[in-house]
Amino acid sequence: MSISTWEWIRLLGFVSYFYFTVSIIFGLLRKSSTVKSHKNLLFQIHQSAGWFGFVAVIAHMLLLIVDQYEPYRIAELLIPFASDYQPVLSGLGTISFYLFLIVFLTSDIWIRKIGFTIWKKVHLAVLPAWILSLVHGVFIGTDSENVYILLFYWCTVILVVIIFLIRHISEHDKKKEKAMKVKPN
Ligand code: HEM
Repeated sequence: MSISTWEWIRLLGFVSYFYFTVSIIFGLLRKSSTVKSHKNLLFQIHQSAGWFGFVAVIAHMLLLIVDQYEPYRIAELLIPFASDYQPVLSGLGTISFYLFLIVFLTSDIWIRKIGFTIWKKVHLAVLPAWILSLVHGVFIGTDSENVYILLFYWCTVILVVIIFLIRHISEHDKKKEKAMKVKPN
């Protein structure tokens, strides 16, 4: 059984979304007080999943150029909303790619140059990047007709939202604790 280029494109889009989701989940978990003892392992998974996601999305995009079924020009890939095929949904994929690219470059390559405060602000771009890739995947993807795939997308959304809220609450509690310590009685 051979897989066509278009099927590879779909598979790689899906793989890329999966790894970006794993990276975000472990990135959010890393600072949670309940799993603090495994901080290094969580960081390794967060970073490696981000790398895998990035490699997969590059392959997803490169194959779109060589594909015969719905070939993209380089400009269609790189300029948001410039493609003939599904311009809006493709454009969201392109913007998501740029946001992930910025996060990726500032984390692994430029972090020392830009400093921690700017890095932290830029790193938050993963959330809109992830949301855009989700909308892109759900609405452009042929596989979204499959009920199991839709269930998978729902599970990723519920998981990311829950872990994001846990992280948000734990950071809020930490700030409150700090403020209590500083306040003189
Ligand atoms: C971070 C960036 C991206 C992610 C995470 C991503 C992810 C995905 C996912 C999950 C699918 C659904 C696969 C399926 O259901 O079969 C998909 C499909 C697709 N993507 Fe992307 N994508 C990204 C960027 C792009 C870009 C930049 C383009 C082109 C401008 C693009 C073009 C397509 C096309 C044409 C399909 C449709 C395949 C089909 O018919 O199922 N993607 N992508």
